[in-house]
Amino acid sequence: MTMTAGAPVVHARAPGKINVFLKVGAVMEDGYHDLATAYQAVSLFEEVRATPATDFSVEFSGSIDSSGLATGGTNLAIKAARALARKAGFRGGVHLEIEKNVPIAGGMGGGSADAAATLLACDALWGTTATKDELLAIAATLGADVPFSFTGGTAIGTGRGDQLSPALAKGKFQWVLTLADFGMSTPGVYQELDRHRDRHAQDIFPAQHQPSVDANVLQALRAGDPHMLADVLHNDLQAPALHLAPGLGKVLQLGEENGALAGILSGSGPTVAFLVADADSALELQVALSASRLRVVRATGPVHGARLIND
Ligand code: C5P
Repeated sequence: MTMTAGAPVVHARAPGKINVFLKVGAVMEDGYHDLATAYQAVSLFEEVRATPATDFSVEFSGSIDSSGLATGGTNLAIKAARALARKAGFRGGVHLEIEKNVPIAGGMGGGSADAAATLLACDALWGTTATKDELLAIAATLGADVPFSFTGGTAIGTGRGDQLSPALAKGKFQWVLTLADFGMSTPGVYQELDRHRDRHAQDIFPAQHQPSVDANVLQALRAGDPHMLADVLHNDLQAPALHLAPGLGKVLQLGEENGALAGILSGSGPTVAFLVADADSALELQVALSASRLRVVRATGPVHGARLIND
């Protein structure tokens, strides 16, 4: 904790993610889909600074245009703070300043990272006695990706995506990401997948099918080999997202023509993630995509999950 003009400030940081593998199974009773995914936390971080307040409020800054974001009770960071206050029996509030670096509604878990960092920051600010497991349980009530942003690194997610088991990973993978100038609704992309499956026969996708992560994905992550990983990148949400936003097909093609080992839609999109062999190829691809007037950022992964920062 640091002090600014006499007020304590707690700073926490949490990462965005790329799903290097995502298989979507049947719709479960709670309306969510059964998933099998391999998450990799990447080096785009949300920075949350929490200061004491009597009520709950949030303001945004950072490299991403956040002017359209809700700042009231529907904001996931506010929900996270309120959920922890309830659980801890804390009666005060908090003011949150969030510096955003993960694309908004981009399929990289930016809102989830806000929530994960907020839980950690408020926990420290209020001195709650919550255990890590209790914070993770609150995280899971906030969204399917929030527990992963909390733990970070590389993990397999099942159930809604919130039941995590760590996966071994070596080295650093290099990513080049294109940011769209529009957001996509995650429920909308899942609904498009369901519509497609309803139209195209249960024989392609039997309802009882239990998704699992391909063993080759785990092997590629363990080996730290981008060529191996490029061969097995997979996202079931890519086809429905391309159906809703066909222009993304051209982006994928452009990246693959300019040195990417492979491209994949990140989560429910519209961010496209290109895996490259090394930092030189990342720079070349960044230049080529920028020349086509795409907004491009680079990231590496895996990186750590939510943590407190001593400013
Ligand atoms: O948990 P989160 O708020 O991130 O999920 C957003 C939406 O994505 C859900 O309301 C649901 O429509 C869809 N979803 C799903 N199955 C999952 C994860 C998300 O259907 N496993």
